Amino acid sequence: MRLRALPLSALCASIVSAQTSYHNPASACSSIASSFHYPDVTVNFAHYLPAGTNISLDQTGVLASCGRPSQVVSVDICRVAMFVKTSAVSNITLEAWLPTNWTGRFLSTGNGGLSGCIQYEDVAYGADFGFATVGANSGHNGTRGTAFYENGEVVADFSYRSVHTGVLVGKALTKAYYEKDFKKSYYLGCSTGGRQGFKEVQDFPEDFDGVVLGAPALAFNNLSSWSGSFLLKTGPTNSSTWLNPAEWALVHADILTQCDGIDGVMDGIIEDPQLCAYTPANLLCSPSNTTSTACLSSAQVATVRQVFEPYYGENGSLIFPRMQPGSELSDAFIYYTGQPFPYTTDWMRYAILNDTTWNASELNSYYAALASERNPADISTWKGDLSAFQKKGGKILHYHGQADSIITSANSPRYYEHVAETMGLPPRDLDEFYRFFRIGGMDHCAGGVGAWQIGQTLASTANATLDAQHNVLLRMVEWVEEGGAPETVTGVKFVNDTASLGVDFVRNHCKYPLRNFCKDPANYRSPGAWECVQ
Ligand SMILES: *[C@@H]1O[C@H](CO)[C@@H](O)[C@H](O)[C@H]1NC(C)=O
Ligand SMILES: *[C@@H]1O[C@H](CO)[C@@H](O)[C@H](O)[C@H]1NC(C)=O
Ligand SMILES: *[C@@H]1O[C@H](CO)[C@@H](O)[C@H](O)[C@H]1NC(C)=O
Ligand SMILES: *[C@@H]1O[C@H](CO)[C@@H](O)[C@H](O)[C@H]1NC(C)=O
Ligand SMILES: *[C@@H]1O[C@H](CO)[C@@H](O)[C@H](O)[C@H]1NC(C)=O
Ligand SMILES: *[C@@H]1O[C@H](CO)[C@@H](O)[C@H](O)[C@H]1NC(C)=O
Ligand SMILES: *[C@@H]1O[C@H](CO)[C@@H](O)[C@H](O)[C@H]1NC(C)=O
Ligand SMILES: *[C@@H]1O[C@H](CO)[C@@H](O)[C@H](O)[C@H]1NC(C)=O
Ligand SMILES: *[C@@H]1O[C@H](CO)[C@@H](O)[C@H](O)[C@H]1NC(C)=O
Ligand SMILES: *[C@@H]1O[C@H](CO)[C@@H](O)[C@H](O)[C@H]1NC(C)=O
Ligand SMILES: *[C@@H]1O[C@H](CO)[C@@H](O)[C@H](O)[C@H]1NC(C)=O
Ligand SMILES: *[C@@H]1O[C@H](CO)[C@@H](O)[C@H](O)[C@H]1NC(C)=O
Repeated sequence: MRLRALPLSALCASIVSAQTSYHNPASACSSIASSFHYPDVTVNFAHYLPAGTNISLDQTGVLASCGRPSQVVSVDICRVAMFVKTSAVSNITLEAWLPTNWTGRFLSTGNGGLSGCIQYEDVAYGADFGFATVGANSGHNGTRGTAFYENGEVVADFSYRSVHTGVLVGKALTKAYYEKDFKKSYYLGCSTGGRQGFKEVQDFPEDFDGVVLGAPALAFNNLSSWSGSFLLKTGPTNSSTWLNPAEWALVHADILTQCDGIDGVMDGIIEDPQLCAYTPANLLCSPSNTTSTACLSSAQVATVRQVFEPYYGENGSLIFPRMQPGSELSDAFIYYTGQPFPYTTDWMRYAILNDTTWNASELNSYYAALASERNPADISTWKGDLSAFQKKGGKILHYHGQADSIITSANSPRYYEHVAETMGLPPRDLDEFYRFFRIGGMDHCAGGVGAWQIGQTLASTANATLDAQHNVLLRMVEWVEEGGAPETVTGVKFVNDTASLGVDFVRNHCKYPLRNFCKDPANYRSPGAWECVQ
C-alpha cells in the first residue's frame, strides 16, 4: 500500500500557512513546529542549533542497538523531528536538518542492514555541505527485524515507503522553512541505503535528480538467503569443515599469491576480483603433515571451494553470485564464523514465513525460492527498466567496494548488465545517465586496504576529499548541475585511515566495464601509474 496521494491544496496550504520569517532563521525554526501542516505528520520538535552542537540522540529501548549516542553538526541548522503515520499499523520517525547556509539543494539519506536507525552521520554530512537533509528510521526501531512479524506494512516501509515518504514530507518542509523551492534533489546511501535509492529510481523516478548508491542490497531476498548459506558451507564453529580466522588468513595470503598480480602489481589490493579464478589446492596438507597449522584438511579445502562458488538453487537457478575472493580477513568474523547470520534468520522468520521458530540450519533451496517468490513489498529491487528516471534527466553514480565482506561485489555488475540488457543500451549509452565504479580494496561501504575515502560518508570528509573528483556527493552535484560526468572517481587512503597522519596513497577508480591496471608497478602508489583498460 502506498502513501495516499497528497492533495495539491494541502501542499500549497502548508507553504502559505508556514509564515516563516526566514531572515531570522532561529525564529523561523521555532515557529515551523506549529505552522507546518502535512497529512499524517506530527512535528515533535524544531530546535535551532548553532554550528558545533554535539546533539544527544535518543538511545532508549531498542534504539540503543543503533549505536548512535550523539552527533556533532558543524553548521547552523534547524533540526526538525517528526512522527509520520504511513498506514493504520505503521509509522516512521523522520528528521530534517535544515542548514542556515542553504545551497538550495535537497538530500535524502537511507538505512543499513535490516535496521530501523536514522543514519545521523549521513544527515549531518548532508547538512554540513548545505543540503536540506532528511533521514528516516525505515519504519521500525533498532537493528533487528522482529517488527516485520505479521506486519506487512512495516515491511513496506522498509522496502520503499519510509524513504519515499521522507522525501515528500521533507521537500514540503524545505519549501515551508526557506519560503522557496529547492533547486535540485539528491540521494546518498549505501548497502540497504543503496537498495533504497535504486528502489526510488525504479518506482519513484520523480523523487531525485541525482543518486549516489553504494554496495546496493539488490535482489534482496536472494541476498538474504545467500548470507545464510555460508553456515551450510562452513559447518558449525570448530566442526571438521570449519576454518578458524588464522586458517582464513592462510587462504587470504594464498589468494593474494594467485590473484594480486593480475592487475599489474602486488600491492595487497585485487582491483578486479572477477578475474581471480582461485583454487585452494596448494593449501592441502600433505599426508605426512596433517597437523601443521600452515595447511588445510581436505574437508576444509572443500569448504573453501564451496565458499567461492555461486549459490545455486532449485533446477540449477542462480540465487546469488559468488563471494569475491579477497575479503577473508573480515569474513572470518562475519560470514565464516560457523554461526547463524542474524539478518537471514530475522528476514526468513518475520518477513517471509511469520514463523518465529524457523532456524538457520533449515535453510535450503526451497526456502530460498520461497523468499524470492514471496518478495514482500517487492523488496527485491530488481527492475531493469530505468527509462523513466533517464527521461527526466536523472543521474546515477553507483559504486561497490571490490573487497566487500557483506554484499559480494559480483552482484553489482550483474545488476548493471541486467539494466543494459533490459533497456537495450550498451555501456556507452548507459553512461549518459548511469555510471558504475568499482572501488579496489574497499570493504562494505567504507574501510579496507584500498583508497576507499571517496566522500561517501562523514568519516571521509577529510581535507583530501572536499573537491568533486575526490567526493562522490559533490561529483553528483557537478554532474547534475553542470553536466560534468565522472570518468573516474578518485579515492584516498590515509595512513592507518587517519587523516591527521597524512596520505598513504591516492588511486583513481575505473568506470565499469573498464578495469584498473598498473602500467608502472614501481610507482603504484601514484595515481599516474594506473590506467583504465578494457
Ligand atoms: C559528544 O558528546 C558525547 C557524550 O554525549 C561524547 O561522548 C562525544 O565525545 C562528544 N563528541 C564530541 C566531538 O565532542
Ligand atoms: C507505530 O507503529 C508501530 C508498529 O510498527 C505500533 O506498534 C505503534 O503503536 C505505532 N505508533 C503510533 C503512535 O501509532
Ligand atoms: C556557505 O556555504 C558556501 C558553500 O556552499 C561556503 O562557501 C560559505 O563559506 C558558507 N558560508 C558560511 C557563512 O558558512
Ligand atoms: C521509535 O522510537 C521513537 C522514539 O524515538 C518513537 O517515537 C517511535 O514511536 C518508535 N517507532 C516505532 C515504530 O516503534
Ligand atoms: C504474515 O502476516 C501478515 C500480517 O498478518 C500477512 O499480511 C502476511 O501475508 C503473512 N505472511 C505469510 C507468509 O503468511
Ligand atoms: C571452539 O573451540 C574453542 C577452543 O577449544 C573454544 O574456546 C570455543 O568455545 C569453541 N566454540 C564453539 C562455538 O564451540
Ligand atoms: C609441514 O608443513 C609445514 C608448513 O607448511 C612445513 O614448514 C614443514 O616443513 C612440513 N613438514 C613436513 C614433514 O612436510
Ligand atoms: C523447478 O522446476 C519445477 C518443475 O519444472 C518447477 O515446478 C519449479 O517451480 C522450478 N523451481 C524454480 C525455483 O524455478
Ligand atoms: C536447528 O535445527 C537443527 C536441524 O533441525 C537442529 O539440529 C538444531 O538443534 C536447531 N537449533 C535450534 C537452536 O533450535
Ligand atoms: C532469486 O533466486 C531464484 C531461485 O531461488 C531465481 O529463480 C531468481 O532468478 C533469483 N532472482 C534474482 C533477482 O537473482
Ligand atoms: C599504524 O598502525 C600500526 C598498527 O597498529 C602501527 O604499528 C603503526 O605505528 C601506525 N602508524 C602510524 C604512523 O601511526
Ligand atoms: C590533509 O591534511 C593533513 C594534515 O591534517 C596533511 O598531512 C595532508 O597532506 C592533507 N592531505 C591533502 C591531500 O591535502
